[in-house]
Amino acid sequence: MVQADMARKILVLGTGGTIAGTSSVAGANVGYTAGQIGVQQLLAAVPGLAQAAGGNLEAEQIAQIDSKDMDFAVWASLAQRCAAHLADPRVGGIVITHGTDTLEETAWLLHSLLDASKPVVLTCAMRPATALVPDGPQNLLDAVVLATEPSARGVLMVAAGVIHGAREVSKVHPLRLDAFASGDAGPLGWMDAGLVRWAHGRAPQPATPPHAALLPGLGAAAWPRVEVIMSHAGADGALVDWLVDKGVQGIVVAATGNGTLHQTLETALARAVAAGVAVRVASRCAEGRMLDIRNAPWRDAGGLSPVKARISLMLELMHRP
Ligand code: SIN
Repeated sequence: MVQADMARKILVLGTGGTIAGTSSVAGANVGYTAGQIGVQQLLAAVPGLAQAAGGNLEAEQIAQIDSKDMDFAVWASLAQRCAAHLADPRVGGIVITHGTDTLEETAWLLHSLLDASKPVVLTCAMRPATALVPDGPQNLLDAVVLATEPSARGVLMVAAGVIHGAREVSKVHPLRLDAFASGDAGPLGWMDAGLVRWAHGRAPQPATPPHAALLPGLGAAAWPRVEVIMSHAGADGALVDWLVDKGVQGIVVAATGNGTLHQTLETALARAVAAGVAVRVASRCAEGRMLDIRNAPWRDAGGLSPVKARISLMLELMHRP
């Protein structure tokens, strides 16, 4: 039983990133090393953070990496720790500090695995903790406030005062502080002076995660080899044939426009399907959603970006005996 007068705990899980980055050059915004400062120290640097969490804030270091180096082992332990904390009735929500570079992939993975009737909020920073004006402390505070918001559920991300959902969010700028966008769909909401304001006046409801059954075995699982390739001018099928030869199990193609493929690549992909490789077609366009593919030997990626389609295909293939 949770005591009625005690705020439920907010867990902050640290994985590294620029938010935990430092530079030896005082005040520098670039040329730093990501993943240096421990999550406990990050929390201590934000005035009012514990109060924002109702006085019940705890931290756990899951990893300390630059998120460009994200790997299956960290993903598995992060997902399993999230699941364990979400199942704890004393926990009200989870915040994950993460690098910006693969944040959208981790968000989509967690969205696909976690039964998140509580909020799981990823946050990050574009400037290191040692910058003259770092963005991490405000993002962390916003994330904790969002994690305590009673209407918030599911896997969300917040940065630069904007709340995004796991399906649509992607990093769209290499340097700007508001580096994330949700394309045509737009953001889910905003942080207005410490208050959550949902777009359209209501909080989004998370769908049932399609791959929750994989969670218990995720640490020991062999992740299927799924590669992302691109259709472009002058593309040929050599890379596809090579991947098939190397035993690839899935290929996601970042296709042109509305899912079109260079004809030579298309022929090679048909050979790959005939050899038992799962192929999914996503659009390389940054915005919009391509129409469903019909009458082809492959499926479309359901509107996912190529990197998120790769995660979905890996998880889908993991169910196969
Ligand atoms: C990273 O993704 O870990 C480094 C870059 C960043 O967080 O902005």
